[in-house]
Amino acid sequence: MAEIVIDHVSKRFAGGGWAVRKVTFTVKDGEFFILVGPSGCGKSTLLHMIVGLEDITEGEIRLDGQRINELDPKDRNMAMVFQSYALYPHMTVRENIAFPLRLAKLPRSEIKRRVDEAAGILQLGALLDRKPSDLSGGQRQRVAMGRAIVRRPQVFLLDEPLSNLDARLRVQMRTEIAALQRRLGITTIYVTHDQTEAMVLGDRVALLRSGEVQQIGTPKQLYETPRNEFVAGFIGSPAMNFLHAEIGDDNLLLLPMGPCPLPASFPLDRLDHRNVVVGIRPEHFHLPGAAPPASPVFSAEIILAEWLGADLYLHVQPVPSHPGAREAPLLIEPETGKPGVVLIVRVPPDLRLGRGDRMELAYDAAKIHLFDADTGESFLRNH
Ligand SMILES: Nc1ncnc2c1ncn2[C@@H]1O[C@H](COP(=O)(O)OP(=O)(O)OP(=O)(O)O)[C@@H](O)[C@H]1O
Ligand SMILES: [Mg+2]
Repeated sequence: MAEIVIDHVSKRFAGGGWAVRKVTFTVKDGEFFILVGPSGCGKSTLLHMIVGLEDITEGEIRLDGQRINELDPKDRNMAMVFQSYALYPHMTVRENIAFPLRLAKLPRSEIKRRVDEAAGILQLGALLDRKPSDLSGGQRQRVAMGRAIVRRPQVFLLDEPLSNLDARLRVQMRTEIAALQRRLGITTIYVTHDQTEAMVLGDRVALLRSGEVQQIGTPKQLYETPRNEFVAGFIGSPAMNFLHAEIGDDNLLLLPMGPCPLPASFPLDRLDHRNVVVGIRPEHFHLPGAAPPASPVFSAEIILAEWLGADLYLHVQPVPSHPGAREAPLLIEPETGKPGVVLIVRVPPDLRLGRGDRMELAYDAAKIHLFDADTGESFLRNH
C-alpha cells in the first residue's frame, strides 16, 4: 500500500523564483501517474522533493497519511531511475543490480535470489557478467530498472527514463515499462516531456507549466476536455489548430473558413459577441463525403503534404471562396492576399492530392473547442 499526497507543495531555490508552486494531487495506490510538461516546468524538482533529494519550501508530502517532508531519503522506501541511469561502470550488471541490496546488508543467498528474479523479469539473464560499457542503451536502461525493482520499493520514481534511447527502442521500452508496472502493481510516478509517452502510459496525467499544475486527469480527459489553450495545444499530435474568431449575431462563429453555427451545448449566454480562440484537432477535419451531417465545408489550398504511411497530414490555407464565407481581414496576409492561417488536417493516406492543389474540407462542429481570447480558459460544454 502506497498512496502519495502532494499537498500545496512549493519549491523556491535560493536566489531563484518559484520552480514549483502550490502543487496538489494524490497518487493512488498502484497507480501509474505521469508528470508531463515542457523543459524547466518543475517536473524533476517535484520528483526530487518526493524522493527526498530536495527540501520542500512550503507544503507537505504524505506517504500513506504520514508526513515525510523531513524523512531521510533512505528511509522512504522509494526507488528512483534517473535519466542518466547512473550505473557503476566498474561493476558488472549483477553487481549493479545487487548494489542496493548489499547496501541494505541482505544475506548473500537472498541477494542472489532477488537479482536472478529481476534479471528474469527484465530479460537480463544473459548479460549479468557484462559491464555497462558493453551494453546497448536499452539494456542499460533495463539494468537501471532492475536496480530499482530488486529493492521492492513501495514507490517507483522515473525521471525521463527513455530519453537516451532511439525512437524505436523508446516505443519498445515504453511497452515493457507499462507491462512491468502493471505486473508489480507498484505506485509509480513517471516524468516525461513527451505527450505521447504520457498518453499511452498514464492512468492519470498532471500537466505542469512554469511550476503550476494546469490540469490533472486521465489521458482521455485531457484530450477531450482540456481546461485551457495550453493543455489543448500540448496534448495531441499534431497539435490542435487554433484560430482567432468572433461570435456574431445568432450565435454564428465567424471563422476564416466561413461561419459556423455554435453548437448549443456551449454556454451560449456567456459567449455573446465575444472574441474567442477556436480549437480544432487535425483528426476532426474530414473529406465532405465522410463528415458527419451538417458539417461546415470550406475550400482550401494545400501548401504542404506529410505522408506517414498510415496517415496523411495536409497543411492547408482556407480559401475564402465558399458561398457565405466572410473574409476576416485580420487573418489575410497583406503581401499575398491569402489567409494567414495554416491548418493541419488529417485525411485518408490514399488521397491523391499534393502541394498547390485545391480541395474541399469539412470539420466536425460538434468537436470544436472554444477558449477565452484573453485568458485562454476553455468554455467547456454543458453536457
Ligand atoms: N538547483 C537549482 N538551483 C536553482 N534553480 C534550479 C535548480 N534546479 C532547477 N532549477 C530551476 O527550477 C526550474 C524547474 O527545473 P526542473 O529541473 O525541475 O525542470 P524540468 O521540468 O525537470 O525540466 P527538464 O524537462 O528540462 O528536465 C527551472 O527553471 C530550473 O532552472
Ligand atoms: Mg527534468
